[in-house]
Amino acid sequence: MKSIKQRLASEITEKIGAEVSVKDIERPEPEHGDFAYPVMKAASELGENPRGLAEEVSGELEDMDFVEKVDVAGPGYLNFHLDSDFFAQEVFDTVESEKFGFQDKDDKILVEFSCPNLAKPMHIGHLRNNCLGDSLQRIMRFVGYDVTSENYIGDWGTKHGQVIYAFKKWGSREEFDENPMEHMYKLYVRLHDEADEEDKEKAREWSKKIEDGDEEAVELWKMFREATIEYNKEDYERMDIEFDRWTGESVVAEEAQEIIEEGLEKGIFERDNDGSVYVEFEDEKYPSTIVKRSDGSTLYLSRDIANIRKREREGFDQNLYIVANEQNLHFQQLFEIAEEFGIDLPSEHVSYGMLHLEEGSMSSSKGNIIKLDDVIDKAVEKASEIEGRSVGNSEAVGLGAVKYANLSVSRSKDIEFSWDEVLTFEGDSGPYLQYSNTRAKSILRKASEDGEVKGEFTEEEYRLLRKISEVPEKIENAAEEREPAKVANYLSALCEEFNSFYHSSPVLDADEEDMLRRLKLVEAFVDVTDTGLDLLGIEALEEM
Ligand code: ARG
Repeated sequence: MKSIKQRLASEITEKIGAEVSVKDIERPEPEHGDFAYPVMKAASELGENPRGLAEEVSGELEDMDFVEKVDVAGPGYLNFHLDSDFFAQEVFDTVESEKFGFQDKDDKILVEFSCPNLAKPMHIGHLRNNCLGDSLQRIMRFVGYDVTSENYIGDWGTKHGQVIYAFKKWGSREEFDENPMEHMYKLYVRLHDEADEEDKEKAREWSKKIEDGDEEAVELWKMFREATIEYNKEDYERMDIEFDRWTGESVVAEEAQEIIEEGLEKGIFERDNDGSVYVEFEDEKYPSTIVKRSDGSTLYLSRDIANIRKREREGFDQNLYIVANEQNLHFQQLFEIAEEFGIDLPSEHVSYGMLHLEEGSMSSSKGNIIKLDDVIDKAVEKASEIEGRSVGNSEAVGLGAVKYANLSVSRSKDIEFSWDEVLTFEGDSGPYLQYSNTRAKSILRKASEDGEVKGEFTEEEYRLLRKISEVPEKIENAAEEREPAKVANYLSALCEEFNSFYHSSPVLDADEEDMLRRLKLVEAFVDVTDTGLDLLGIEALEEM
């Protein structure tokens, strides 16, 4: 079935004789109408006066069966007022249809996110990453992509020799077995604080041993790898995040060696006097960088090149990396090199800014990182303090608050995270969305009938209906722009509309017709917020 926007776009195309796309159809302020089309651009293409053109076609457009009235406004706006019964039916049909009408697509898309490194707990940078990556995998799936989410672990390279070396020097098997992550991280920090040149050299030797397949080195490496994954799995489970597959830099370490040989043959890379291999970019577009060390080991970048090719061979049509903006240059270099290799898998760095916590609101654990699970613990603790209404929800509310705070700001921007703002029940927050959703559910629980469109919509009801109608385009937009904030901000605006409806329009105490019509709106609101929250990875509760 065609959407209203599609029908308007094709009708306008026909009437004015210029190509009009769905994206040209706007949502004006409620007082101006339900949909709008600015004629100005088409008019200038056609060499006509915009206002004149708008007036010329408005009458014919009014003849469309679902259009009640078309106004011409300003320099050349066509404002469409729809037949409200038709509009309502259309909105409710969409909301009630599976996945709001989104159809499966053929595109196989890879969504890579989280990717923590070995022997370290996840930190607050991973918090934003996890929120964004998980929401994006949900959104992409919802709009119909065949999504594979991947956790590409940082499990290869010089750092890992360091942990082995430190373990052999200071480590204890008992302490490791007791609390693996704490022990590994302690060793890591100690090495950082105390290592001299000799230690560093010895640590490098261990890294080389892993690459060369030395038995003891590989065994310890495996032990640390598994312990890291086990530890992180608890955080993912708590955040309700699932990956379709777990890989790691180690998986492509061998292919990275092949890539280097191939790059040398093709003249993409060059060998330096000391035996290392580097790449230079045309016109010094990006700084030149090394892809193989003189000791023969590969680098983060070389492994990423091998990995793009692997994904291309696996048949992916799109390749998304959710990685912080600190790595912008890395991905620019990577994509440039991939192109030179003739790899044509469309790849995108879905970059995002920093998350800053309020000064002094968390003490960073030794090693100067703020651990992801400490932030979540704190959110849950705070949620239980303010909430205090029903026990058992504070985990969901605390997590909801943190996730919303991470997702509601557009990803390119940094976030200033304030505990009070994040955990409020008023306004722009996770708990506010969860609360509005449960408030509507409690109306439905008390109702003895299902909603039905009857009688005339009041102004408040119609505003809510219009807001609800925006849901498919908001989700589609979020998918296209890889921007969960579009869904988050939409839900916040929707809840605001719902709450003013709630205060102005009694539902269960209203006359039969009004009650049924309002119930229908409340049902639709619950469907949209249940789904929307799920797309953000936030739990929709039954009551709060
Ligand atoms: N493990 C890396 C880090 O912690 C992130 C990996 C991002 N993904 C990639 N394909 N480079 O910085």
